Amino acid sequence: MISSNVLIKGYHYSEKIYSENYITYLCCDLTKACNYRCIYCGNATHKDKGKDLTTNQREKLISNLKEYGLKTVIFAGEGEPTIDPDFYHLIKHNYAIGLTTIVYSNIAVLNKRKIEFLYSHDVSLVIKIDSLDEEIYNKMTGSNEYVTFKENLENLLLVYGREPHEEKRIEIATVLTELNKREPKKIKKLCDEHGLVYCCKTAGKKGMAGKKWEKICPNGTIELEKIAKKYTDKYQTTGTILGDCAVAGHGIAVLKSGECVLCPSLTDYVYANVKTNTVEEIISIKRKIYDWTNKPACIAKYIQNTGGTIESLVEKHKQKP
Ligand SMILES: C[S@@+](CC[C@H](N)C(=O)[O-])C[C@H]1O[C@@H](n2cnc3c(N)ncnc32)[C@H](O)[C@@H]1O
Ligand code: SF4
Repeated sequence: MISSNVLIKGYHYSEKIYSENYITYLCCDLTKACNYRCIYCGNATHKDKGKDLTTNQREKLISNLKEYGLKTVIFAGEGEPTIDPDFYHLIKHNYAIGLTTIVYSNIAVLNKRKIEFLYSHDVSLVIKIDSLDEEIYNKMTGSNEYVTFKENLENLLLVYGREPHEEKRIEIATVLTELNKREPKKIKKLCDEHGLVYCCKTAGKKGMAGKKWEKICPNGTIELEKIAKKYTDKYQTTGTILGDCAVAGHGIAVLKSGECVLCPSLTDYVYANVKTNTVEEIISIKRKIYDWTNKPACIAKYIQNTGGTIESLVEKHKQKP
C-alpha cells in the first residue's frame, strides 16, 4: 500500500473508488514523435505510422468510459504528448466532462501560457528530470534543451505552487542509468523543497534502452536499483494507493491504433480494439484476462525479471469459462 501523500491528483483515489469502479483510468497513447532522444527511451523509432484513432474516436471513447466510472485520462505514450495535434483539444474535452488529465512530459515546449492552460484545466504532470546538471541532462536526453527546460520548470513551479494545495499535482520521474546515478540526491532535494512527488526507477530493457543496454547499464541494475530505492517515494509513476499499477490494475490502455493492451509497454499482447469492439466488450474481455489475485506491481518489470512472457502469464491466470 502506498501512502496517500505521495500520490498526485488523478492517482489519488481511495480503496473505495477502486472497489466500486472497474475502470478508473484510460491511458491513451498520443504521438510517438518526440523532440528528445533519451538514451534509455523505450521507443527506438519516434515515428508515427499506420492509421490512428481520429480525434472524434478518442473523444467518444473518453465520454463512453466516463459512463463506466472513468475518472482520469493519462497521456503518457511512447513519444511526447505535448506535441500531438490533439493534445489541447482533448484536455479541454476531459475538463469539460469533469475528468482529471495526467500528462507525462519532458516540458520542453511548455511555455508559461501553456502551463497556465494546463493548470486551469485540471492537469497533473509527471515531469521527466534525469539530471539537474546541464551536460548530463543534454547527454541523457539527446537534446540541447536544458536551458529551456529549466526556464519552463521554474514557471511550472510558480504557477502550480501559486496557492497552497491539499492535493499534489506534480510528480518528478527519473530513469536511472550509469550516467546519472549521482543525480537523484539533488533531484529529491528539489522535490522536497517544492512538495513534489518523486519517482526514481531503473530502465526497462526495450527500444533504445535495449539497443544501448551495455552503455546505460554496464554493471547491471542491482546498484542502480539500490540508489533508486533510497530516494524514490514510489516504485512506479502509475502506482495506486493499493500499490498496484493504475493502468493494468484499474484501467484500459489504448495505443494510437486503437489496440487495447494490458500495459502500454507491452504492445505485442493486444486483447481488443476500440475500432471494432464496444466499450462493454473491451471491459468484459479485460476482466476475463486480468482478474488475477496477487497482481505484480508492474507486469513489464515482472516479465523482464522472471523471463516469462505476457501470453504465458495471461494463460496461467485466465478465468475458466
Ligand atoms: C515514454 S515517456 C513519454 C512521455 C514523455 N516523453 C516523457 O519522457 O516523460 C513516459 C515515461 O516513460 C519513462 N521511460 C521511457 N523509457 C523508459 C525505459 N526504457 N524504462 C523505464 N521508463 C522509461 C519516461 O521517463 C517517462 O516517465
Ligand atoms: S523518454 Fe520521453 S522525452 Fe525521452 S525520447 Fe522517449 S518519449 Fe522522448
